[in-house]
Amino acid sequence: MTLTIPSFAHSLLASTVAFATFGGFSTVFGAVESLPENVTFTEHVAPILYQNCTRCHRPGEAAPFSLLNFQDAKKRGKQIEEVTRKRFMPPWHADHGYVELSNERRLTDQQIALLGAWHRQGMKEGDLAKLPAPPQFTEGWQLGKPDLIVKMPEPFEVSADGLDIYRNFVLPLNLPEDKWVRAIEFRPIARTVVHHALYHLDESGEARKADDRDPKPGYDGIGRSSRQFEPIGGWAVGGEPTILPPELAWRFKTNSDFVLQTHFHPDGKVNYETSAVGIYFASKPPTRQFTTIQLPALFGRLSGLDIPAGATNYTLKDSFTIPIDIEAFSVTPHAHYLARTFLLIATLPDGKQQTLLKISDWDFNWQEDCVYKNRITLPKGTRLDATISYDNSAENPSNPTRPPKRVKWGVMTTDEMGAMTLSVIPARDEELAELRQAKRNHNVDLFIDRIQEDTRQRERVQVMMTMFDKNTNGKLDPDERPGLRAFLETSGLLRGIGGGF
Ligand code: HEC
Repeated sequence: MTLTIPSFAHSLLASTVAFATFGGFSTVFGAVESLPENVTFTEHVAPILYQNCTRCHRPGEAAPFSLLNFQDAKKRGKQIEEVTRKRFMPPWHADHGYVELSNERRLTDQQIALLGAWHRQGMKEGDLAKLPAPPQFTEGWQLGKPDLIVKMPEPFEVSADGLDIYRNFVLPLNLPEDKWVRAIEFRPIARTVVHHALYHLDESGEARKADDRDPKPGYDGIGRSSRQFEPIGGWAVGGEPTILPPELAWRFKTNSDFVLQTHFHPDGKVNYETSAVGIYFASKPPTRQFTTIQLPALFGRLSGLDIPAGATNYTLKDSFTIPIDIEAFSVTPHAHYLARTFLLIATLPDGKQQTLLKISDWDFNWQEDCVYKNRITLPKGTRLDATISYDNSAENPSNPTRPPKRVKWGVMTTDEMGAMTLSVIPARDEELAELRQAKRNHNVDLFIDRIQEDTRQRERVQVMMTMFDKNTNGKLDPDERPGLRAFLETSGLLRGIGGGF
């Protein structure tokens, strides 16, 4: 039998939940007493699972089992109650309540209470007529059928053990004309060993040549193999497809190849990877331009990151003042196993502060893009302050090394790095170059700071001081830096620093 819930109960429930959420007292004002007496799968549980769970809990996706029907859900009723009460599922790692995100995966208190009540009431199926239409998915893709699918031409063998592998794969696009692209979806096969994949476009043919020279599928190499490659984002474990806001697009030029730079972390058995990439065309050219601001810059490469064994709260920091008016639309955190917390704060010229990202419990397996619900306006002169903390003690359950050992910056999964990458649209396209120059200056300044601390570079630093420390105070002051930066740009010293140079 299905009880009809009087409409006043509905509105009571809604207002209780709204109040509880607003006040942040969700545990005090639990909505349980206002729940329907007879919670059923068809009426209450299925809509929650369809909306929040089945995109991963269906065959071929990231989750280990399906939650597509009554039988599937009933088998796991107790576990569903538990993992949702603890907010372990749906997985989401940015802290709630600091900045509104459009792609946050989060159940309401009411939904959690309903799932719990369903389990405690004996998991009834209910009236079949009330079952909503199941969600429609395109098998194999989250974003529906791609306009173009490109695949690695042959499988690449990932050895059972040994060091991490960085390998580049060339996926010919064979575009008959230039195309604007609005979204990219990456599909790894060997999910347990693919740690991340960076996307590049190569017009130069360099990638193909390198591939031809190497007898195995793809070719070796860390970092951007050629300056001609255009970086266009990427995917890391737990990530979702990248979708650009409607007024933006990437240009895929005819004759360009899609180059995947994939990072594999062996898992103890031999795996074979044949990644596929789904490409979704935009129906019109973009009307705006965009870029990124990454802090700490270059994933912390010039930060001197060096975490002693046992350190529980090692921090990495970087700050940058934005030279033009911009709007931020998303932020992507990245680090390896030892990272614990992320914080990115904007201080506006009027002193007002805005949190752009806060993560209190980083999980390496979920490298999620955070998309802002509303664009965040950051006027010229806004300062960004980024802090990432690391726990290299044995108490950190994610620490892959026991007993802990000293960890420095590096590209292997057991090394560390860290950054938050903010995607931004300049208010005026013509000022984009100014932002790019400021980012470059920032990176060169980090280089100058590092080289001064490096005892092996004493002679070079001495030369720099003689030439540029005009007031001979033993420091390279902000007004002495422009000349020094220009000198470094032409000296060749900056070569090999990677991304951004
Ligand atoms: C973005 C993908 C994704 C979504 C959305 C998602 N899950 Fe999961 N779920 C996973 C993955 C991956 C695992 C296995 C890995 C893990 O335990 O972290 C998992 C594991 C689980 C487990 C087993 C946990 C354990 O301790 O073994 C349960 C139960 C579960 N999910 C329920 C749910 C429910 C209920 C929802 C919706 C409210 C949901 N999940 C939404 C990806 C997802």
